[in-house]
Amino acid sequence: MATIVHVDGLVATGAEPSVRGTAGASHPVIEVRSLHKAYGATIAVEDVSFGVGEGEIFGILGPNGAGKTTTVECMSGLRAPDGGAIGVLGLDPQRDRHAIRELVGVQLQEGSMPPKLTVRELVDLFASFYTDPADARELLELLGLTAKRDDYYKRLSGGQKQRLSIALALIGNPTVAILDELTTGLDPQARRETWSLIEGVRDRGVTIVLVTHFMDEAERLCDRVALIDSGRVIAIDTPAGLAEREGGGNHMRFHPSRSFDDSLLTALPEVDRLEHQGDRIVVSGNGDLLNAVISTLASAGSQAKDVQLESATLEDAFVRLTGHPSGTSKEDGKR
Ligand SMILES: Nc1ncnc2c1ncn2[C@@H]1O[C@H](COP(=O)(O)OP(=O)(O)O)[C@@H](O)[C@H]1O
Ligand SMILES: [Mg+2]
Repeated sequence: MATIVHVDGLVATGAEPSVRGTAGASHPVIEVRSLHKAYGATIAVEDVSFGVGEGEIFGILGPNGAGKTTTVECMSGLRAPDGGAIGVLGLDPQRDRHAIRELVGVQLQEGSMPPKLTVRELVDLFASFYTDPADARELLELLGLTAKRDDYYKRLSGGQKQRLSIALALIGNPTVAILDELTTGLDPQARRETWSLIEGVRDRGVTIVLVTHFMDEAERLCDRVALIDSGRVIAIDTPAGLAEREGGGNHMRFHPSRSFDDSLLTALPEVDRLEHQGDRIVVSGNGDLLNAVISTLASAGSQAKDVQLESATLEDAFVRLTGHPSGTSKEDGKR
């Protein structure tokens, strides 16, 4: 299952990663190399390497239990790795724990807060940990929490708690924000609002590492994603690149206006497969399948009618690479 993927000069597993800039990313601010971490007999992270460029939103995707949280906990200095090396802004999260705390904001999965503190008290408390915190009022405004500032934590809705946890991750004016399961448990409306918010944070120059098992979230937000399964990186690419490369290609269904020889289309470099389904034809392939098929048919005097085009998605790539749908646990597939 573990394929080694070379993308943009980054070696997903094995040799020294070196990161070249991709869209919006200039130089690497995070490098994780051959990270290994076990809890007793459970190997949570077998071998994980990747780099994150400045200003990127970098997604860490994978089924439950894949080792995502352990990876970001090691990056935040909250857990000590058993092996490998991590550099965040040129610092070692273990050795330089105090400096890292100033520069890296962390939103932990299922973080819970003292129930009898108000929103304002929590934000002020967290702000007091930093030498140069963000403006608390501005941050609460940005996150739509101004009207809730005197409410107890326990009175907040799920969406409000989530937004507060983002506020707490950002109150230190971090250079890097690590967000673990940002929108888990939120309703669709709150999820979309949270996404816009994260885009706003990125626009302010913050580099973001986003752990998620939602493919739509990754497609919407991430410049690149690392797909992790059973403690290993199995692919790193842009969401669109992963979908196209690993998603099984695109499918075009149509009725031909008049019959033609299959080889006309199967000879095209864009076409991998052609199938007859009754009088309908399904062509599978890559690249600009639609135009290649339509223009080739036209040259043979035929037309594609009732055309349906189905593009491979990140979810398709996820399923093909991990063997099970996103949102399920790695144990689910084994039952
Ligand atoms: N504190 C812990 N003690 C023991 N095992 C753990 C602990 N945290 C995680 N694990 C195990 O390590 C593996 C990876 O977990 P985790 O990093 O939380 O994955 P993910 O965030 O991808 O769901 C899982 O098998 C999980 O049960
Ligand atoms: Mg997790």
